[in-house]
Amino acid sequence: MTSAALPLHDPDPALLTETALHADGDPHLVWRWMRRNAPVHFHHASELPAFWSLTRHEDIKAVYRDPQTFSSEQGVLLRPARQGDDPGGGMTLALSDPPRHRLLRGLMADWFSTRAVRGLEGTIAAAVDSTLDRAFELGDCDAVHDIAGRLSHTLICRIMGVPEQDHDRLLAWTDEAFEAHTSLVAHPGLLEYFSELLFRRMEEPADDLMSALVHGTVQDRLLTEEEALLNCENLIGATENGRLALVGGVLALLRHPEQLRRLDEDRALLPGAVEEILRWTSSAVHSMRTATRDCTLRGQRIRAGQRVVLWLPSADRDEEVFADPDRFDIARRPNRHIALAAGEHYCIGATLARAQMRRLLTGLLDRAGDVAVLGPAPRVRSIAVAGPRSLPLRFTPKRRRR
Ligand code: HEM
Repeated sequence: MTSAALPLHDPDPALLTETALHADGDPHLVWRWMRRNAPVHFHHASELPAFWSLTRHEDIKAVYRDPQTFSSEQGVLLRPARQGDDPGGGMTLALSDPPRHRLLRGLMADWFSTRAVRGLEGTIAAAVDSTLDRAFELGDCDAVHDIAGRLSHTLICRIMGVPEQDHDRLLAWTDEAFEAHTSLVAHPGLLEYFSELLFRRMEEPADDLMSALVHGTVQDRLLTEEEALLNCENLIGATENGRLALVGGVLALLRHPEQLRRLDEDRALLPGAVEEILRWTSSAVHSMRTATRDCTLRGQRIRAGQRVVLWLPSADRDEEVFADPDRFDIARRPNRHIALAAGEHYCIGATLARAQMRRLLTGLLDRAGDVAVLGPAPRVRSIAVAGPRSLPLRFTPKRRRR
């Protein structure tokens, strides 16, 4: 079924490519309708190239699990046709296919493993403490910039090996790029900074991810400067998801005070609350793949070379998988969300994202007495990521720190 064939009173799937729907409307109305009526739907070319939309959990998971048929190399996000394929294709972790993908991932995996993140618990706790100290000192703050952004940025900088004194400068640049919705590589300051740091690590390796990127080999050769740089950009850029999930989680709990109370009274609910926040916020809105061969999905013929877009928040509200999917329930069991993807490209930062969210919620529950929302929480204008663009809050601390 195509958009042209849809009855007028039904939601129009073409709206999904409009940032206004995601920022000001309710994309879930469209996705709910599509799951029921057009789960594999073709969108004709517009400013964007033509693509298929998948909205059901089962179909999206199946595509994620078949990287041979559904390639990441041409790009994993919809971009205007005039811009062509993603220039990072084949070079970054997110934009490579097996077998190269697995080898590249092997270079970075140690830094994000369960063991590595367990080793970072103290660092995460200290980063949460200092972020909250600062936010409480400010009194009125924007939870996006002053808490979530700062925290996820600090942690990825630590893992990459960015010297402490440079964190603030880098945070200002990444904020600028996120706000302007431009690629981080387009930011001259960032590019130059990472280029210099990579050269420094080439001469003086340290125990950090940047050193692994410049000294590690994939298929018996070192990464080129461009490949190393683009992977740094990929890693820093991925923290936008982390920040949106963190702040989206805080907002979800503030909007569901009974769930917040429940969590405060029973901290054993924390791991489940984190999973529900990930499902509820589904901050990565879509992943794209390109078919490498002709194949069939729910009776629709997908041709080699066609793009397939996976709408993750839709999968995470699929009524065939989740009972009462539009209810925010921190005790939901089971909770088989795919907010962090699945298969080969399963989010490498998943353990880190969960650990920082657990720790931030613990910090807020322990330290914040009263939290007042000072204004509206406008959503980001994007079809790639979702969450609050700003969340003005005022904290009244439970007790003063000495
Ligand atoms: C809750 C927050 C996060 C969400 C919802 C999220 C979501 C995702 C999703 C959906 C993908 C798959 C993209 C695709 O293949 O099309 C992905 C991959 C990735 N994520 Fe995350 N992510 C989060 C946090 C992070 C963090 C904190 C990092 C840390 C650096 C990170 C780094 C990456 C990287 C490098 C990939 C590519 C992995 C690969 O291709 O093998 N993510 N993430």
